Amino acid sequence: MDADIVIFGGRAHPELADEICSDLGVPRSPVHTTRFANDCLQVQLQANCRERDVYLIQPLVPPVQENLVELLLLADAARGASAGRVNAVIPHYAYARSDKKDAPRISIGGRLVADLLVTAGVDRVLTLNLHSPQVHGFFSVPVDHLHALRELAAHFRQRDLSNAVVVSPDLGYAKSAAAFARRLGLPVAAGAKERMSDTEVRIAAIIGDVTGRDVIVLDDEISRGTTVFELLDRLREQGARSVAVACTHGLFADNALDKLAAADDVTEIVCTNSAPLEAEHPKLTVLSVAPALAEAISRIHNGESVSSLFDH
Ligand code: R5P
Repeated sequence: MDADIVIFGGRAHPELADEICSDLGVPRSPVHTTRFANDCLQVQLQANCRERDVYLIQPLVPPVQENLVELLLLADAARGASAGRVNAVIPHYAYARSDKKDAPRISIGGRLVADLLVTAGVDRVLTLNLHSPQVHGFFSVPVDHLHALRELAAHFRQRDLSNAVVVSPDLGYAKSAAAFARRLGLPVAAGAKERMSDTEVRIAAIIGDVTGRDVIVLDDEISRGTTVFELLDRLREQGARSVAVACTHGLFADNALDKLAAADDVTEIVCTNSAPLEAEHPKLTVLSVAPALAEAISRIHNGESVSSLFDH
């Protein structure tokens, strides 16, 4: 990789930043971060950015607000240092879930944060599995939107899939679940899900046949696990034989990983390392998205096609 590329990582997920850098053969350039007595942050980039292609790696994971402000400051510093182009690599864009006005007088954080990033100096965004594809349109700069279906499918190809079916918990993700099922040559089913609040969802029915099947649940993220626990109830009522749970963003808030793994009929849980994972569990497999992000960075830097690599 040529010397015109400079990569910095925020503090949200240094392990992923290191893995991407190692795949690219580019060192991770240091950042000096100061927190002042008034709790404000300041970052200082410790490498020359002038006319360089600068990549800032920072998923918006908890503490989301802290990590977001750090990313904004990194972008501001890179722009102020005369970077040729400032690329935000955001493997998990948490505010994507705030994408519509579904109650009176609510904020739409997905669009606001996109505007903030551009105001801070971001020229381009590389991200992974946005909660809904239309969030892409919130950004007024180019976005390369990858998914992890290739990595997840490669994992499940090692399993006996002769009796398997892919199940999306909701109709919104059914298109991605269908694309995933197609990769594996499997049928697909979907839940009719309604979310009442952050802690309450209802899945009234499953559209498709799951009785006696080995189910692979596929979702974009598992946060509290409210969705997947509700889906498990329906799958049990309909006599599914076993359940593997797969998602891109394994956030596992509120002890969700332990709770999910404690279910006897859950055979395995698979996610990617888009978010850092403190917990390890014998039922959990974490697939790396670093090679995909590194390949995308290399292609963006060299002006090559990214979509041809990651199309459904
Ligand atoms: C919602 O529409 C998403 O696709 C996920 O199902 C949701 O974000 C998961 O959150 P939780 O695990 O808290 O139900």
